[in-house]
Amino acid sequence: MVAINDLRDLFNTQGYKVIIVADGEPVSSVKKKDGVIAQVPAGGVAMVLDPIAKATDALYIARAKRAEEREPLDKNDKMMVGNADGNYILKRLFINEEDLEGYYFGFSNQTLWPLCHVAFEEPQFNPEWFEQYKRVNQVYADAIEAEIKGKTLVWIHDYQLAMVPSMLSKNKDTIVGMFWHIPWPTWEVFRVLPFKKEILTSMLQADFLAFHRNYQASNFLDTVERELEARIDKETQQVHYKNHVTTVKSLPLGLDIDVVRSLVHVEEQETPLSQTIRELFGIEEKKDHPLKWYFDKYKVIFGVDRLDYTKGIRQRLQALDTFFERNPQYIGKVVYLGIIAPSREKIESYKKVRKQAKQLESMINKKYGTKNWKPLHLLHVLFNREDILNFYHSADVCLVTPLDDGMNLVSKEFVVASAMSANPGMLVLSQFAGSATDLGNAIIVNPYDKIEVAEGIKQGLEMKPEEKRTRIDSMTEMLEEKNVYDWGYTFIRDAIQAGKLALAKEQ
Ligand code: F6P
Repeated sequence: MVAINDLRDLFNTQGYKVIIVADGEPVSSVKKKDGVIAQVPAGGVAMVLDPIAKATDALYIARAKRAEEREPLDKNDKMMVGNADGNYILKRLFINEEDLEGYYFGFSNQTLWPLCHVAFEEPQFNPEWFEQYKRVNQVYADAIEAEIKGKTLVWIHDYQLAMVPSMLSKNKDTIVGMFWHIPWPTWEVFRVLPFKKEILTSMLQADFLAFHRNYQASNFLDTVERELEARIDKETQQVHYKNHVTTVKSLPLGLDIDVVRSLVHVEEQETPLSQTIRELFGIEEKKDHPLKWYFDKYKVIFGVDRLDYTKGIRQRLQALDTFFERNPQYIGKVVYLGIIAPSREKIESYKKVRKQAKQLESMINKKYGTKNWKPLHLLHVLFNREDILNFYHSADVCLVTPLDDGMNLVSKEFVVASAMSANPGMLVLSQFAGSATDLGNAIIVNPYDKIEVAEGIKQGLEMKPEEKRTRIDSMTEMLEEKNVYDWGYTFIRDAIQAGKLALAKEQ
């Protein structure tokens, strides 16, 4: 098993400065009554990049989300982040409102996002957005260039930054690695993108390119083969294009399992989320933890999602309807608690998901609800990681049913937190989540098949405790082995190797 110190050793022996570049910040600064305070995001890519940055003393470049995020920064827009586990420097980029529209709400999340996820949402193509996307990618590239000194590994993350590799100047001491965290679609889907050649040729200027799963990497290679005059060596997964070699690999992201475990309290505590739940369910009794009260009384099916059409929220609620219809014995005994984090709210297709979820929630609650019991509780709140982990720990079933997902860390976090309970729950997981390959001992379902999901829920609720224990423990063992440090270690090692190879071939 690779631990944080192995990653630290690798970083020390290789002698490369690491620059991590992503849209999302590992820490945000939020204005509260007593001033601006640091807040850790509850999910997303940035959350797991934090321990990697700590182990490699990295410089982390990310987009600031609010104007008040300037407050804790020095004159170079940097601040020190960290704790006893390590420190690193965060540099924030401030993007103007107009470019943000095209870069984030436009090209990233209305063009590439629906194009890459098979969720049947039509991608929008707007040349102006692409111009704004490139402008913001150039802001990132300039910030990176200003920081390159000596041997440097630039590690670019995700679809928001696909044009950055083509914007970096060539330098024999610089290695460029890129990780694509969302799915890569088949060529038949990708080919419709009017800007496809620019995106592909930029990504091929990275020395090392990784995806979570094999099918995503092979979809990428297939797309390159059909769109560009490139030579692909299938054996070594190397693409030779215009005098440059890019090594392509699949490398599934794991969890910062030690951090996850440290956040799960066996003694339950009152938190902002548990207070919200107390209010929601009208639990006045303060002497006991509200969730304990609730979890003792009902069997709880839990879901945590960003409000996004790829997460299959509508299909999941429909499956819950089917579950109660086919299993009336559970009426009054089981509840679904869905925590939904607002996301990309300006975009129409996201507003639509919220509306659909509301309508279904009230329809299903009307259909089955009794005087004192409602089957569905949807909470539209921004959650924090600790709260959610403690929910996982107590839930009977966790429903993770995306229609398409690059990896999905919710499913992995649930398994680890649940394993810490004396009586673990069970995971019902979409076969279309990247994590389904790692978590084969969950109940795997097709999220579009309401009956299959309903049956999966029933199976999860009725599974014998010994079987749940065996399944959850075996998945946890694998997550321990394939943790985030192993992922970071392998990426950095292989990217450096690929960078050296690319240089040797070019000379
Ligand atoms: O990989 C998917 C991703 O877009 C990440 O880049 C990001 O961390 C997460 O989803 C959340 O997205 P957003 O920051 O747009 O809410």
